[in-house]
Amino acid sequence: MRQHVNPLSNHFKVLEPIPPLDHLFKNPHLPLHIDIGCASGNLLFELANQNQNWNYLGIEIREKLVLNAQLKLKYSDLENLSFFYGNADYAIKESVDKFPNSLVNSVSFNFPDPWFKKKHHKRRVLQPELLDRVSKIMTNDALLFIKSDVNQLFEYMNSVILGSCIFEKYNNGSENTHNPQNIKTERELYAISKNLSIYNQIYRKKFNN
Ligand SMILES: C[S@@+](CC[C@H](N)C(=O)[O-])C[C@H]1O[C@@H](n2cnc3c(N)ncnc32)[C@H](O)[C@@H]1O
Repeated sequence: MRQHVNPLSNHFKVLEPIPPLDHLFKNPHLPLHIDIGCASGNLLFELANQNQNWNYLGIEIREKLVLNAQLKLKYSDLENLSFFYGNADYAIKESVDKFPNSLVNSVSFNFPDPWFKKKHHKRRVLQPELLDRVSKIMTNDALLFIKSDVNQLFEYMNSVILGSCIFEKYNNGSENTHNPQNIKTERELYAISKNLSIYNQIYRKKFNN
């Protein structure tokens, strides 16, 4: 799972932006969840099956994983799921103006690559700039979900999110049937098999941001 790709490579700057929603989903007006760094998308297949009244979009930088997910999708009858290949940062930067405001109802960052060395921290997917852009297409009171088995990375993400002053901690997520944290991701199953600790938190977008 941790075969790292350098997200800052020029290669990822020339990819296409995310297509309009009516090209991705049968009903583009449903609430939308975006999973950033979705790998093979197993979490999203489960969520899309369980919640047919939501749309799900996975963004993943490793092309082979996206091609596999798209092939699996082709042989399913799901019309509320889509996968996009690219660096989430560039994909969202290039697409944000084309998306209606208040479009995204929830976003997840599950077990992002930790990039342990300080000089590589800028390669971490969750950066203040990405968070700011994503927040602009999120509804007021939209939810943001994070999970990691690396405490240092979890603390970093928590400080970026709270430091933005756009989100506040939210602790009632388990009541929400759509809650993606109720389903274990691929990396999470691996972490459990190795008895690693798992850190998670839900945040809610504050009003007037
Ligand atoms: C450790 S894996 C976790 C995968 C999955 N979320 C899970 O929990 O099983 C991190 C994933 O994020 C992807 N990734 C890393 N940087 C990314 C970026 N800038 N944009 C999109 N995906 C990225 C990696 O290729 C990898 O598939």
